[in-house]
Amino acid sequence: MLRERIEAVQKDSNVCADIQGFDFDTYDKQDIAALRQLWLQYGVLRFKRADISDAQQVSFSRHFGEFVIHPKQKEEGGHPVHPEILVISNAMINGKPSGAMGNSEATWHTDTWFYERPPAGAILRAVAVPPSGGDTYFLSTYSAYESLPEDLKQQVDGRQIFFQDVIDKTGKLRLGKATPASDDFREWSGIVHPLVRTHGETGRKALYLGGTTEGAWIVGMRRDESDDLLAQLWDHTTNKQEVFVQQWEKGDIMMWDNRCTMHRRDGFDPATIRIMHRTTTAGERPI
Ligand code: OGA
Ligand code: MN
Repeated sequence: MLRERIEAVQKDSNVCADIQGFDFDTYDKQDIAALRQLWLQYGVLRFKRADISDAQQVSFSRHFGEFVIHPKQKEEGGHPVHPEILVISNAMINGKPSGAMGNSEATWHTDTWFYERPPAGAILRAVAVPPSGGDTYFLSTYSAYESLPEDLKQQVDGRQIFFQDVIDKTGKLRLGKATPASDDFREWSGIVHPLVRTHGETGRKALYLGGTTEGAWIVGMRRDESDDLLAQLWDHTTNKQEVFVQQWEKGDIMMWDNRCTMHRRDGFDPATIRIMHRTTTAGERPI
């Protein structure tokens, strides 16, 4: 049988392409290599209504690196059969959430920015979608960096950013962390990353803002100056870039490069059900 050619069709943004001609049942090494190139080129790949199984998602994801077990997987987001899968779900079973939910993914972020080695990528598959809402938005942090006005570019180049890792975006203590003694988050535990990171595979520079302006500090700057610069960088990144909006259908898969993109989810009616299965692959320490 003649194999279909893998094709990428750029979507109406600079950050996403639809993949056509990739068969999750019969792919080979060359197909994976082709996808990897497209993933690096576009930042986000979409597979419409791929409708694969959990086992297929795990075996497919394995081609893109070591698995990362998300911190939420140790709390409420574990999968009963596949430890590699994070379940993002608002469905209640016996009065308890059947997956990770909350709203930490509802504002712009890159995944687990407060890790020493944040994940390289994530593969998110729609298992159940609500009738409306719950869309996921993506943007390119390459373009956020490249489109910075010259004066801002000069202010960020060579800078480092500190992210505290004690309190999450919803105000809860992160797993294994104790309530900090100090009011100043700069004295808490956390991680320092470059504010402009160079992608290990493409060599391109991307702005790295993590996931929140709270608990982030540009190292060495006065606190008020850092807050002001971060506010400008967030405004530039989240309000002035092209955005791709994924309106989910059951079976859709989004595969993003977590080193050069940001994403967020829209709200949806909590009386409706939304279930996503996610696999996550390991990344390098940002440089
Ligand atoms: C994630 C995430 C958004 C969504 O899986 O990292 O942010 O739309 N998910 O569920
Ligand atoms: Mn996320």
